[in-house]
Amino acid sequence: MKGPGTASSVRVVTLKINDHDVSARESESILEVARENGIRIPSLCQMDGLSIAGACRLCMVELKGSSRLLAGCATRVAEGMEVLTNTERLRKYRRMIVELLLAERNHVCSVCVSNGRCELQDLAFECGVDHVRFPYRSAVYQVDASHDWYRVDHNRCVLCLRCVRVCDEIEGAHTWDAMGRGINCQVVTDLKRPWGESDSCTGCGKCVQICPTGALVKHGTSAGEMEKDVHFLPYLSRMRHWE
Ligand code: FES
Repeated sequence: MKGPGTASSVRVVTLKINDHDVSARESESILEVARENGIRIPSLCQMDGLSIAGACRLCMVELKGSSRLLAGCATRVAEGMEVLTNTERLRKYRRMIVELLLAERNHVCSVCVSNGRCELQDLAFECGVDHVRFPYRSAVYQVDASHDWYRVDHNRCVLCLRCVRVCDEIEGAHTWDAMGRGINCQVVTDLKRPWGESDSCTGCGKCVQICPTGALVKHGTSAGEMEKDVHFLPYLSRMRHWE
């Protein structure tokens, strides 16, 4: 029986990230290799232990000699690649993405249970967002508090789809899904039944723990009180994919 981490033949490639030579397994993504080498690339939808969604585009990197931007989480390393992760162009681009996320829904941090523990808020700090240059849409989204233990506030959802993936890939329940397109996209439970009426939800709370914002939270939490813990994920993912 093979255990987790057992590799048969692993090809190693060498590349440069920000002019530093690094080596990596050819199956790895640019984002993974950057992290292993202590190089920070902002990201939001990517999560170790889950499949790649490529939804947020915050992890964009440049390749020397190419004008295209590539998603670091979804691009595998290759021999001789020269990756840039922190150029002026990328910084502008990332800031714009965070501003667009803030403008799209109603992220009012002062009354959010995840205030101070929110990945979107952290990214706004990191990207130097001190104001939003785009008109706020101010559309009102629904809050579903029908579940016994949890609630979902769509006003605070960034559509990273972590909840959809963890529910399907780790818990195996597939309660969550994404419905609609563009600004009308929304995560839904059991094909848009209220969460509290879901037949498939096991109540495990994994979706709540890995939600990066205050969109999925426990009942009974007030502003700034919601603490999340994602440490379970790499272990469960390894065990689940044991071959
Ligand atoms: Fe790569 Fe979101 S982390 S697209």
